[in-house]
Order: sequence, then structure tokens, then C-alpha cells
Amino acid sequence: MKNPFEYGGIVGQDAFCNRVVEQNDLRRAADNGDRLLVYAERRMGKTSLVRRVLEQLPIDSYLPIYIDLWTTNGTRSFSVQVAKATAEAAERRAEKMLVTAKDLFRYLTPSVSIDDTGNPSVQFGARAAVADVPQLEDVLQAPLKLAQRRKKKVVVVLDEIQRIAEYADDAVERTLRSVVQEPSGVAWFFLGSRKHLIQHMFSDKSRPLYRSAGHYPLESIHVDDWTPFIQDRFKAAGKHVSATHVAELCTRTEGHPYYTQHFAHDLWEITGAGEAVTEKHLVDAEYLLLRRLSHSYTVLWESLTPNQRTLLRGLALSDGSLSTFSAGFLADTGLAASSAHRAAEGLLSEDVIDRGPDGFVITDRFLRRWLAAL
Ligand SMILES: Nc1ncnc2c1ncn2[C@@H]1O[C@H](COP(=O)(O)OP(=O)(O)O)[C@@H](O)[C@H]1O
Ligand SMILES: [Mg+2]
Repeated sequence: MKNPFEYGGIVGQDAFCNRVVEQNDLRRAADNGDRLLVYAERRMGKTSLVRRVLEQLPIDSYLPIYIDLWTTNGTRSFSVQVAKATAEAAERRAEKMLVTAKDLFRYLTPSVSIDDTGNPSVQFGARAAVADVPQLEDVLQAPLKLAQRRKKKVVVVLDEIQRIAEYADDAVERTLRSVVQEPSGVAWFFLGSRKHLIQHMFSDKSRPLYRSAGHYPLESIHVDDWTPFIQDRFKAAGKHVSATHVAELCTRTEGHPYYTQHFAHDLWEITGAGEAVTEKHLVDAEYLLLRRLSHSYTVLWESLTPNQRTLLRGLALSDGSLSTFSAGFLADTGLAASSAHRAAEGLLSEDVIDRGPDGFVITDRFLRRWLAAL
């Protein structure tokens, strides 16, 4: 029997837990043509949630456009990515896709091919002789045009929005601001992690996207929702896990979706058919999980400077959170204040730590446990 707990990819209907309130909130926002910033640390389930909402929108009245910005690195690749997603969302058949792409994007030269799965896919040819910004404006107007022409509500999702803060200039941010402010039948969802970058982008007065979207932080999934989800999946395989043991699992993962699925996956694996989960199973599952993660943690550890390692281990031992570089902390770790700050900046930009409510936190819960056990 296939392990029912999935982690890593986008989870669809069969592996999707709860988020009922969030789905309703997002559906309402789509309906109202709102602009929303959905943010949370990595692997909290932003993409899975939004994709699920998009899938369930009735296609006769909505046109969803999902754009992943992960691989983009500047204005031009942003434009191409948006144009591609827009054309592919607007049409299903290859011939029509080509016609629509040519019509919508005056400055790009599209072609359409059929991919391995038999679906048409748009590519854009060599750079047209036009500057980046007019091209960008043209591309970002396309969802507005589609909303008008089709008489549908268009929902544009820009996933990994923090990427645009890393582009060489702020042309995308500025253009995006003017486009999302136009009254239109378009809802804009921005999805992002890396809190410090996102906060900068949307809460800093000097930035173009300042106050351009409502904030929608995504939290962990509550143990009350995980309990039936996990118990049912054990039961379907003739295995048993008590609510108490699920609660213990969720304490260790803090209900974080990725880690909860990962832990449940390993726990399910080591529990035999007909068996009931015991305390020992939990311990063994955590051991297995840390062993599986150990390789990537070692690679990360080896990429750090000595001061970064010292700071990180100090953080892990101090419960993973640190309000200030207190004298006690500095004395314990032997770091000078200036070195500690420099090390923290480096770890922050590498996404290893983030600013939490009370100071720096190691975002990855199991990295924290792995470090503490070193
Ligand atoms: N609603 C959910 N129910 C169950 N598991 C989830 C849910 N949302 C996320 N997950 C788990 O978290 C992992 C990461 O989800 P993803 O949507 O990629 O997060 P993000 O986009 O925030 O990085 C998934 O592979 C899955 O294991
Ligand atoms: Mg994602």
C-alpha cells in the first residue's frame, strides 16, 4: 500500500487537510477582485492552498492564472513567465493559444509546441527590439484585457513574489503597483515566504508596493484538524494511532504542514499492519526523519562560516529563538557582538533563520533539533 502521507510537492485533494476557513477567505477575495498578500514561512502550504482554491473556481465565470516566479531573475524573465502562464491559462487548444498569445503580447514572438504530456505550451522567441518596460506593461495588461473580453473574473497568482525584490531594479514592482491599482475585474494574490523581504516590499513606505495588498498570514494546521486526518489514514491501512500520540507528533512539528506530513509518513512506514503506535514508534520515527534530513543539513552546515555555525548552534540550544544578542548569549557562544550581527545577517539572507515575533528563529524545526543534538 502506498504511503498516504505526502511531502515535498503540491498536495491535491487526497492529501489535503482542512484549510476550510482559508479556502473560503480566498474564494471571497477572488470574487471581490481583492489584492492579497498570502505569506508564511516556506512549506506552510501556500501553493497547495491557492492551487486548490483556483481548481475549484467555476470555469464559466473565472479565469485563474497561476505564475511561479521561482526561476525568474529580472524584468525580462518575469514578463516571459507571466505571458506564458497567461496564454496557457486563456486557451486549451494549441492553435487558439498561438492566436491569443500573438494578439495579447505585441512585443513578444510566441510559438506553441506540444509537450510530453500532450499539452500545448507557449515559448517566446528571440528578444524583440523593444525595451523591457513597455514589454512588461503590455504583458501585465493582458489579464485586465482578458477580464473585459471574456466577461470573467480573472485571478492572477504570483507565487514566490519575494523574488522580485531581488531583481536588479524595481521596474517590476513599480509597474505592478500601477497595474494592480487599476479598477478591473482582476484579483491579485501574491504568495511569498522570507518574511524580512516581504515585509520590506509591502510595509516599507519607500517601496512601490507599499500597502498595495491586504495581508493574509497563513498559520500552521491545528492539531484538531490533523487528528482525524492522520488517524483515518492509519486506519485505512489497518494501523492504529491514538489521539494522544497524534498530539505528541503535532507538538514536535508544531502543526507545520510539511513537517507533520513528513513525520506522519515515517511513523506510518515503521508501524506494521495491525500494529498500534507506541511511544517507541514516535522516537524511532523522529530518528528516521532526522537521518533522512541529515544529508541536506550536513551540506548546509559545511557551507557556513565558523561564526555562523556558532551562532546557529547557540540559537538551537537556546530554544531556537533569541530576542537580542544578550550579554549572556554572547558570553556562552564566545562571539563578539559585531560578529554575531554579521553572522545573523548572513544566515538571514540564506534563509536559514528569520525574524520571529521575539527575535531570530531557526525556521526549520528539525534543523533546530538536529543542531541541538550535534
Ligand atoms: N492543507 C494541507 N494538508 C496537508 N498537507 C499539506 C497542506 N498544505 C501543505 N501541506 C504539506 O506541506 C508541503 C508543502 O506545501 P506547499 O504548498 O508547497 O507549501 P509552500 O507553498 O508554503 O512552500 C506539502 O508537500 C505537504 O506535505
Ligand atoms: Mg510554494
